[in-house]
Amino acid sequence: MHVILIGPPASGKGTQAAVLKERFQIAHISTGDMLRAAMKAGTPLGKEAENYMSTGQLVPDELVIKLVLERLKQDDAKSGFLLDGFPRTRAQAEALDEALNQAGKAIDAVVFVDVPDKTVVERITGRRSDPETGAIYHLQFNPPPPEVADRVIQRDDDTEGAVKVRLEKYHNETEPIIPFYREKGVLKEINGLDTPAAVTAAILEVLA
Ligand code: AP5
Repeated sequence: MHVILIGPPASGKGTQAAVLKERFQIAHISTGDMLRAAMKAGTPLGKEAENYMSTGQLVPDELVIKLVLERLKQDDAKSGFLLDGFPRTRAQAEALDEALNQAGKAIDAVVFVDVPDKTVVERITGRRSDPETGAIYHLQFNPPPPEVADRVIQRDDDTEGAVKVRLEKYHNETEPIIPFYREKGVLKEINGLDTPAAVTAAILEVLA
């Protein structure tokens, strides 16, 4: 199965990907997670990405496309993948399409989890993650259990200023690729405002 999860910042892509990855036993490829790991490791890519990410800008297409196309060649992605946060621009969508065509593969579904801007801000402000396990929490909607509460952290780009830019980038660069997938007949639209469990159920229904 080859699935893309698309949606505004903090619409719940990572939360849903964690469940879907277990359910379908496919590779979860999150460009945000890969870039944050590169930053933490201090690699040249990480150093280059840092300024873009901390201010909410998109990392340049050529860097992200190379990163993903290399990742897709790894063994665990050969039998299926769940792309989270990629593609985010028309150039990324076209590069992915071309690479899949060449490999004789195609996208089965693009799951578009949508929430309004007001919800994005609400979710981003309360988001915390566990640096040891990567688990995602929300102070109000999904509080971290007491044993991890002391170690959860807030992402550097979850600031009010960066969120404004991330939303602007989403509306200007990412939203326009939704019709690209709608025309291909693979777009599945999901209301991301429901509870996480209800959103999972809706995704499983459209993937069935
Ligand atoms: P990335 O890490 O991809 O960030 P994003 O798309 O902004 O998405 P988020 O990770 O913020 O949110 P999410 O949708 O996964 O929501 P989550 O499940 O955490 O990218 C970060 C940066 O990296 C970009 O700004 C860019 O600089 C760079 N980048 C990455 N990919 C790139 C690319 N392809 N090209 C160029 N640059 C790229 O949930 C959010 C919160 O809400 C959590 O607290 C969660 O507990 C809560 N929540 C989740 N679901 C629900 C629900 N149903 N109800 C209530 N609360 C919920």
